[in-house]
Amino acid sequence: SDGLLQGSRQLKLPPDKHVNSNKVQSHSPQNRTIKVKLDKKLLNFTPICDVIGREAVSAVTRARSQFCKELIVNVSCLSQQGKLYPERLYSSCPHSTGFIGKPKNLGCFKDDKTQRILSGYYAIFKTNNSPEHCAFMCLQSGYRFAGTEYSTECFCGMEEPPQVKRLPDSSCNMKCSGDPRQSCGGYLTTNIYRTGIRRFKAQEARNSSLKTGKEKPARIAFLLTVNGRASRQVKRLINVLYDPSHFYYIHVDARQDYMYREMLKVEKICRRKNIKVAKGAGLRYASIWGGASLLTTLLSSAQQMLQYSKHWDFLVNLSESDFPIKSNAQLIDFLTWNKGLNFVKSHGREVQRFITKQGLDKTFVECEARMWRLGDRKLPKGIQIDGGSDWVALSRDFVEYLSSPESNELVTGLLKIFQYTLLPAESFFHTVLRNSKFCNTYVDNNLHVTNWKRKLGCKCQYKAVVDWCGCSPNDFKLEDLSRIRNTAERNLFFARKFEPVIDQRIIDRLEDWLYPDRENRTKMKGYDMYWQNLYHHADLSPMSDDTVLTIANSLGRLIYSRLGLNTGHIRLLETTAYFVKNKFRGILILVEMDIKTFESSTYQNDLPDRVEALITLQRNFTASKMWSSRIKSLAINTDYDQKEQTFRNFLGGIDPMSNLILAYEFDASLVTPRNLSVLWIDPNGALVDVNNLQLEEMTLMGSVKPQLDEPLSIGKWRVFLIADTIIAGNLSFIVTPLAFWKNRQMPMKKARDIHNGPSGTRRTREIDQKWMSILRKAGINQEQTLDSTIIEDRTGPELNAWIDEFVGQYYTIENICIANEMHSKKRNDHDLHECSQTNWSSLSPDPKADVHNLCEI
Ligand code: UDX
Repeated sequence: SDGLLQGSRQLKLPPDKHVNSNKVQSHSPQNRTIKVKLDKKLLNFTPICDVIGREAVSAVTRARSQFCKELIVNVSCLSQQGKLYPERLYSSCPHSTGFIGKPKNLGCFKDDKTQRILSGYYAIFKTNNSPEHCAFMCLQSGYRFAGTEYSTECFCGMEEPPQVKRLPDSSCNMKCSGDPRQSCGGYLTTNIYRTGIRRFKAQEARNSSLKTGKEKPARIAFLLTVNGRASRQVKRLINVLYDPSHFYYIHVDARQDYMYREMLKVEKICRRKNIKVAKGAGLRYASIWGGASLLTTLLSSAQQMLQYSKHWDFLVNLSESDFPIKSNAQLIDFLTWNKGLNFVKSHGREVQRFITKQGLDKTFVECEARMWRLGDRKLPKGIQIDGGSDWVALSRDFVEYLSSPESNELVTGLLKIFQYTLLPAESFFHTVLRNSKFCNTYVDNNLHVTNWKRKLGCKCQYKAVVDWCGCSPNDFKLEDLSRIRNTAERNLFFARKFEPVIDQRIIDRLEDWLYPDRENRTKMKGYDMYWQNLYHHADLSPMSDDTVLTIANSLGRLIYSRLGLNTGHIRLLETTAYFVKNKFRGILILVEMDIKTFESSTYQNDLPDRVEALITLQRNFTASKMWSSRIKSLAINTDYDQKEQTFRNFLGGIDPMSNLILAYEFDASLVTPRNLSVLWIDPNGALVDVNNLQLEEMTLMGSVKPQLDEPLSIGKWRVFLIADTIIAGNLSFIVTPLAFWKNRQMPMKKARDIHNGPSGTRRTREIDQKWMSILRKAGINQEQTLDSTIIEDRTGPELNAWIDEFVGQYYTIENICIANEMHSKKRNDHDLHECSQTNWSSLSPDPKADVHNLCEI
């Protein structure tokens, strides 16, 4: 099902289109498949072997750098020669022989189906007849308990030989705890049963000391692996999780300069020194989605965490999109009761199926920030493979065990395998746990609720970074609140994913629910606002978006020209997306006068030298009267996120190289099925594409990608939505020239290439008679004849002036504040307020993300 609590992802192979090789026919009579061999002439080095196999050859051909090509060849050769992986590993789990081949049959029970498979296979345990103890034992051995805590089913039964009697829910607790001959229970093999009892006794002793207050509260080391630019949300997460006795280690993806600087600020503010940020090569990784580097990141960070702090009991990893769904006190309580256990979530399906879905039977290698698929491999004999989610809570003992693998063949062997594994962190910990002396500390619960919606989250969206189709969970929204609150009785402490740019209200409500006594947040400044940085002048990595640079610089000039500075000498500092009440409100541009470029005599001393402005985007959509209630939204933009069904390009800039998408949502009142046409008219008045939308009850929301010749013509485009013969709605958008190319001023040659409309022969559509009259009514006559003798090659100030014309039409400067307090004391002709006192400004207070007093507790 796609519901809550699905531990693992479903994956399938993307088609492999890039094979460039010699085809060698295999002559074996049974195997007539085509073997592919790499053409050595494609390499400028001598490979250590003949690389054979479609996937490996495709990978070498696609990789660009010498380093990456060599790595792929070397790993492929070692794999071909059987030298890459250990053939056999040994499990040191004392009762592992009991499970082999039938791991899914173990444990308490999962559902009715398992129950049937298990008949005659189970043992009932006696647990002092208390459902709590019973639940504990199931949990302990890594399975669910069907009783008060984990499921709606309930079993009670006599001791061996098992005579299980299924009781109605309501009578279960009472019967189990009432009748001394009955035990509550589930299914456990005898072996686990014994281990379970041993552990149970140990736990009981601990629990009694807990009750008498002797057990020290568990201390947690949080490992935050963060990526992206949602630094205010990460600060909010740290604010919520902070406890002086815990330890926080923050790993920022090596490519994210902005987030890194923001996290360094947090580290510096915290005088207790229990927040550390991973710094420098060897400790910071470019941890791509699904990459081997994500496991390297986790293990290297874990090692640092052991060194930094001697006191923690559990390591819990979280990302920028996790949020707690229980209070800190509840989490501490739970972990205090369960010291020494390891919490991971298993896939819950048949093992072989999991292995294939997950690509565990394939070799992958990471370079050029990509996971390349090289072909099949054999997993080692002698151990049990397990996996699921990579969000875990691990005991310190286990982390120490992982951190000194030298003396340990199992861990060393598995590390070799997982170095070449897709999504390694989703299986490494599980597999080590299952096959090591820690096997009886395995708990099949990673303390997380995950919002899987596979129809949306499995769109093969990571093709750009992995040779595989991976899935991601969806963001929680306000409507999911009750679903989360319903987990109150269960041992679930975190949920993912949350993103304030998608929905901040759910995060607000969760915080109110978890901490009702904290000061009234709704009265806090900036309570229902959110700011997310899009551009910062100090960033070297990742490269800035040229469209953002172009438009934001243009806005900077327009802002100062509004104040009376007409030289255009400005320096763009920051661009921020600003949200109010969960809605995108506008863009903030932080800009200063570029004083260096002024002659001292012309320096306009009366202008504030740094300001921030609130910019709004013009809405260029109109619907006909009849259709206005049927069309919920219609928009054209770039960076469409299919999972969240929204555009991520907040600034909305479109340039000649943009990949446009039209996204639509119709109201359920629309009579379906229904066919609509979308006509794309370029700035010259030519019809350049027609799309058909087939709307049915289930497809009222969707997106289409037009086929347009690149580079797109500069200027105002129009798009018509036609229903039968009437215009249901029309949209316009502007393709602006680019002032930057790869973050540098646009060179003339490039300007010529991209600012003259599509290259080669332009493909235009014959205007169908039936549309002709419709378009004529809308003022679209004939295509204007283009003067092909004019070649557009403006650069520098001329190009800027051209861009400013377009930007001025589409963006509105709504408000300006003074960002530099010193200068607010100067003459202030424009009656501007200080940004720190201005609600919308990124410089105004934002207590939820304010960490200044964090470590003062
Ligand atoms: C899931 C798993 O939970 C994740 O760990 C796995 O690697 C991929 O799929 P998903 O929502 O798809 O999660 O990924 P996301 O949470 O965006 O990223 C997983 C982790 O990798 C996060 O900690 C994130 O910060 C980090 N990451 C992701 C990077 O450091 N760099 C990236 O480029 C992408």
